[in-house]
Amino acid sequence: MNKKTFSLFIFGGTGDLAKRKLFPSLARLYQKGYLGELHKVYSLARSKREDWERVVCQLDENFGKLCNFVPFDVTDPKSYVELGKLLEELKGQELIFFLSISPYLFEDTIRNLGKLLRNYTNPRKIVVEKPFGFDLHSAQKLNDLLYRYFIEEEIYRIDHYLGKDTVQNIFSLRFSNIIFEGIWNKNFIDHVQIVALEKVGVEGRGEFYDKVGAIRDMLQNHMLQMLSFTAMEPPAQMSEKFIRDEKVKVLRNTRIERLLRGQYEGYAKEVGRESSTTETFLCAEVWVDNFRWKGVPFYIMTGKALEDKLTQITVVFKEVPHSFTRLLDCQPLQNRISFQMAPQSKLTITFELRPPSGRFMSCPVETSMEYLFPSEFEEAYEVLLLDLIEGDQSLFIRGDEIEALWEVVQPFLKAEEDPFLYSRGVKVPQEALEFIQAEGRAWFL
Ligand SMILES: NC(=O)c1ccc[n+]([C@@H]2O[C@H](COP(=O)([O-])OP(=O)(O)OC[C@H]3O[C@@H](n4cnc5c(N)ncnc54)[C@H](OP(=O)(O)O)[C@@H]3O)[C@@H](O)[C@H]2O)c1
Repeated sequence: MNKKTFSLFIFGGTGDLAKRKLFPSLARLYQKGYLGELHKVYSLARSKREDWERVVCQLDENFGKLCNFVPFDVTDPKSYVELGKLLEELKGQELIFFLSISPYLFEDTIRNLGKLLRNYTNPRKIVVEKPFGFDLHSAQKLNDLLYRYFIEEEIYRIDHYLGKDTVQNIFSLRFSNIIFEGIWNKNFIDHVQIVALEKVGVEGRGEFYDKVGAIRDMLQNHMLQMLSFTAMEPPAQMSEKFIRDEKVKVLRNTRIERLLRGQYEGYAKEVGRESSTTETFLCAEVWVDNFRWKGVPFYIMTGKALEDKLTQITVVFKEVPHSFTRLLDCQPLQNRISFQMAPQSKLTITFELRPPSGRFMSCPVETSMEYLFPSEFEEAYEVLLLDLIEGDQSLFIRGDEIEALWEVVQPFLKAEEDPFLYSRGVKVPQEALEFIQAEGRAWFL
């Protein structure tokens, strides 16, 4: 537990992320008594938008009193001179800098801030939002820049999916239950599906999204993070180093075999670039080349402007042996364990049982058991902010891990073919159904 007085500096503290996620999460942590050592939250941006004070104070009046707006331009050296004056008043405190600004401003900010901090001995942490780089090379460059001024233990790279209860429960279910860990391998598992479907399109983020697309926005981070939690080996110790070591090992053996890209109709017009070939949808067949997963494909699907929101991982077990099928005169369905993050946080185990009115040897019926994950925290950012304050890096991405993530997607960043078009509001595009039908499988949605 961090018992050191600290101040939090949010660069871009008037932006969308700060307003929708960071300040509400901080206010809730404050109300629950987790921010006892907080001195001040400084919100840094070029202009104080009128509603900033109202937004923050409405969350919690007492918490609002701890929040100050500081006019600041991350590209302007004069701003750092002013920041230096402020830091003089915070001697001995831990300083936490949260970069909630455009990724195009990360480098300038890290460089200017890093130089300024050389004059201070305060313990410090720096939080970098996603996207961390736009490809392997730029991620390596950003890492190198960070290491000029900070050590790894001070760097917190965010993937907010890691703050979600369900993702952490994959870990917990696997490693604290021998009945599950015992069957978590190629001998029992047929394949794994990792799905993140969104109802919304690109909304107001068109200009940014068009440079990024689903590979960089979803696959490189959230989807591969879910894969690494599902596929990693048990760490020898429950410590941040050991957990992150195992994730890196899995990612280094992960490769994309096939990737299919789609774009929803009307997207190019919406973003104002008729020639855009950016993907808003993708399916990928991914393999983890190690002893545990030999022969087990991981199918990934993610996309925008679809019928419903759904985020889940489904582990699909092998079919029962042929001899049993003959005995029953029917083909029982495959068992499944599914971890759902949205619309609900829940675990579902699907299995087959004798029908209530059937005879002893009747064909079984599909039955499932659902468990909703109860949580003290409403929002993934609450978990991550608390870990950040307490100095636990387990749910943040390490430097070598971010590079391993980029290495997996790097061969697919330059698309050779145009994406197929799909209609807005479709459940999933026909091409996605065919993507795994070709291998005799179907999506469980
Ligand atoms: N929004 C989300 O849901 C979300 C989700 C995941 C990750 N992220 C990441 O979080 C970061 C912030 O995203 P956002 O959506 O909050 O962006 P945003 O709404 O565009 O906000 C950007 C913030 O940066 C400030 N800013 C811009 N130029 C500046 C400068 N030169 N100096 C100082 N401040 C400057 C803006 O205020 P002024 O213009 O007044 O300076 C504003 O406060 C990005 O890296 C994004 O990729 C966002």
